[in-house]
Amino acid sequence: MARASEVGTTPVPVGAAGRTWVLVRLRPGGEVSAFPARCPHRLVPLAAATVVEGRLQCPYHGWRFDADGRCVDVPSLGPDGSPPPRADLRVPWAVEERHGWIWLAPERTAVALPPEPSAEPAPEPARALEPPAGMVFGNLDPSLEHAWHPVALARELRPGGWLQVRLLGRTWTLSRAADGLAVDPPAWGVREHLGVLELAPAEPRDVALEVPEAGDRRFVRAWLPPVRSAGPAGPLADALLDVAHTPFVHAGSTGPDGSPVPDVTVEPGGFSAEQEHWFDHLADPGVATGERPLRQRRRVTTVLRTPFRLRVRTDLPDTGAATTLLVLLQPEDADSTRVHACVLLASPPGLPLPGPDVLAAEVAERARLLAEDLELQAELASTGLPLTPRDELHVPADRLGVALRRALADFSAGR
Ligand code: FES
Ligand SMILES: [Fe+2]
Repeated sequence: MARASEVGTTPVPVGAAGRTWVLVRLRPGGEVSAFPARCPHRLVPLAAATVVEGRLQCPYHGWRFDADGRCVDVPSLGPDGSPPPRADLRVPWAVEERHGWIWLAPERTAVALPPEPSAEPAPEPARALEPPAGMVFGNLDPSLEHAWHPVALARELRPGGWLQVRLLGRTWTLSRAADGLAVDPPAWGVREHLGVLELAPAEPRDVALEVPEAGDRRFVRAWLPPVRSAGPAGPLADALLDVAHTPFVHAGSTGPDGSPVPDVTVEPGGFSAEQEHWFDHLADPGVATGERPLRQRRRVTTVLRTPFRLRVRTDLPDTGAATTLLVLLQPEDADSTRVHACVLLASPPGLPLPGPDVLAAEVAERARLLAEDLELQAELASTGLPLTPRDELHVPADRLGVALRRALADFSAGR
């Protein structure tokens, strides 16, 4: 129950019969609709949804629902795709606006009309959203003890200095002396790798992520300032692998044409994937001179190593330029993840290395996109990545996300 005057075109979460719903008017001043609290796709709280053209639109991938809860648009399926039936929201049996209040009957009930309240009704408060029914991979999963984790950039710890970091819900103190790195309390290992300090609490079982660009003199690199995500690492890794959210989360970015579905290859410790698509390369000076066509290919190669190491390389085969983004996630606490990200840039063959200004512009752009992703993560209020397929609804564009869930399920089971 909620006061009718408080419900407009911004969803309002309410409690009814022990569950949480959202109430919203899909047209200004129109009838009130009620929906379950989460999007069936990735369980995003629909309290963060918006009303667009008389439909409720999920903020993450733009799925749209009509007043009956029917999913009428899944943008990643393209204009001709039809949403799967499971995408529909189960709306409550009845929603009524009477006597200045919104009444909601989740299930069929014998009372035809809500009674006029004799006194001010006491609305049931919106509760914390129910967690997914199946297994969820959170930042404190015991399997995470057995991996190397990034805990700081090497430049954050000066010689002779010390540094406190959070990892898996505990505080560790790192120090750098003349004879090397030390950690307290003792851990299985601490090391410096590719400009990052890494810590393994117990004997690691993870497979290293190869970064060939780090040893390639054609590439220059720069680390982004580390940032913190107010949520677990799994859903953030999922977002970083996902292109379908681009037009909805990153204003001004359209994402690739036709949402290509990548080919995924399962590998020891994770997977790799490749996608190729065409784009208009407006920034290529070779286009103006007629040396190359405007329409060019872009090849994206993604490699993930569990738990949370990701390398995304973008090659432009027509010019020979390449950009790699390396992202390493540090599971600090149940609801906190530190993000270490590095860009590595190569110019086309025969041209000088990218200059500091080019590198700085790339870092700034990646930092902006990351900040937008982190904003959404903070809204998700997620406890981890669901690993039980039935808890979510996967569509073809989610192939990398599905591969991530499988890889983490294997990692968590010690396989
Ligand atoms: S559209 Fe709602 S989570 Fe993807
Ligand atoms: Fe993103």
